[in-house]
Amino acid sequence: MSITPVISATGLFTPPDSISNEELVESFNAYASAFNAENAAEIAAGGVTELMPSSAEFIEKASGIKARHVLGKAPILDPAIMTPRWPERPNGEISVMAEIGVAAARDALARAGRDAGEVDAVLCAASNMQRAYPAMAIEIQQALGIDGFAFDMNVACSSATFGIQTAADFVRSGNARSVLVVNPEICSGHLNWRDRDSHFIFGDVATAVLVEAKDIAPKPHWEILGTRLKTVFSNNIRNNFGFLNRATPETAGAADKLFVQEGRKVFKEVVPMVAAMIVEEAGRLGIDPAALRRMWLHQANAGMNRLISQRVLGHEASEDESPTVLDTYGNTSSAGSIIAFHKHSDDLGAGESGLICSFGAGYSVGAVFVRKVA
Ligand code: COA
Repeated sequence: MSITPVISATGLFTPPDSISNEELVESFNAYASAFNAENAAEIAAGGVTELMPSSAEFIEKASGIKARHVLGKAPILDPAIMTPRWPERPNGEISVMAEIGVAAARDALARAGRDAGEVDAVLCAASNMQRAYPAMAIEIQQALGIDGFAFDMNVACSSATFGIQTAADFVRSGNARSVLVVNPEICSGHLNWRDRDSHFIFGDVATAVLVEAKDIAPKPHWEILGTRLKTVFSNNIRNNFGFLNRATPETAGAADKLFVQEGRKVFKEVVPMVAAMIVEEAGRLGIDPAALRRMWLHQANAGMNRLISQRVLGHEASEDESPTVLDTYGNTSSAGSIIAFHKHSDDLGAGESGLICSFGAGYSVGAVFVRKVA
């Protein structure tokens, strides 16, 4: 008989600093004015394009984002810097990404009443890793005192759900009984804060999901009814930063070495793909999609979530049916749907089911159907 995987608990680390749209726009517009003044002659001659101001109203209307948390606010808002700046830490000190991952993991472990020594494996699933190796997951494993194995995985915005399926498969196969999936997303590091089209999109956060065998899980927990993953290659969300283009005068500061996207195309192409996959997988699992009590969707754009939930539920979802955290967190890549689940799942009753779903670069889509067991 196969072992049933469950979500025993989730954890969250939210950086104390937050940037409102108004603060962000003020900084961007100061930068744009200074750029335009400095390049006035070239702009007049047609050699350089004038920078247009950003607007807080546009940002909220186009995306639903009102603010975002970041790990270091001051340099991001300084018009002369506009990028996060962290002093490099010596190798003997925990790295930033591991540190916030550990904070989220400890929260999940405490909520489950689980001692780290009882965990068998750690997956660090996120859209960017701070370094090539050793794996972030192994550093997190060591900081928590876990005896077992750990590795990193990256499926951009879908990293967390892909991590949950991987953890669930380890549990199903008996290769592990308790697996921590950790999602430290330091999105401020790959965002081009000088790009008007995207400077408002991302925020920083870390989440953790403890996936365990049902027989050892504390109650309440969430039975994983089924998971489904899908990827289809697309260049519409891309970041060319990598170890083959270490900073040279040509590559340093190049816009394509940060997050770039064709936002409109992403919107149009991803919505139908996600909705179709959810409905299809629900059918395979014998779940009526319209009867899902709640959908914890990826938090990239409020309009996208409205359309997806409408296609799945058959009516416009209320905030109760499809909660938003994007307004205060921005897009936190793979962590978004996990934050929504973490903050908006305690009120569900025993037997009620829901869906955690992520989507993004790749393209990638991950769906995790869960049912509460109290
Ligand atoms: N301030 C004011 N105006 C802005 C602006 C800003 N910061 N950024 C763009 N605009 C302007 C554009 O110049 C354009 O003006 P025009 O019509 O005169 O040409 C207009 O606003 C519309 O721009 P557009 O980029 O088409 O906006 P949009 O409605 O598509 O919204 C996104 C942009 C990014 C919010 C939206 O496309 C989106 O969220 N897409 C999905 C993204 C996603 O999920 N990505 C996954 C990431 S992991």
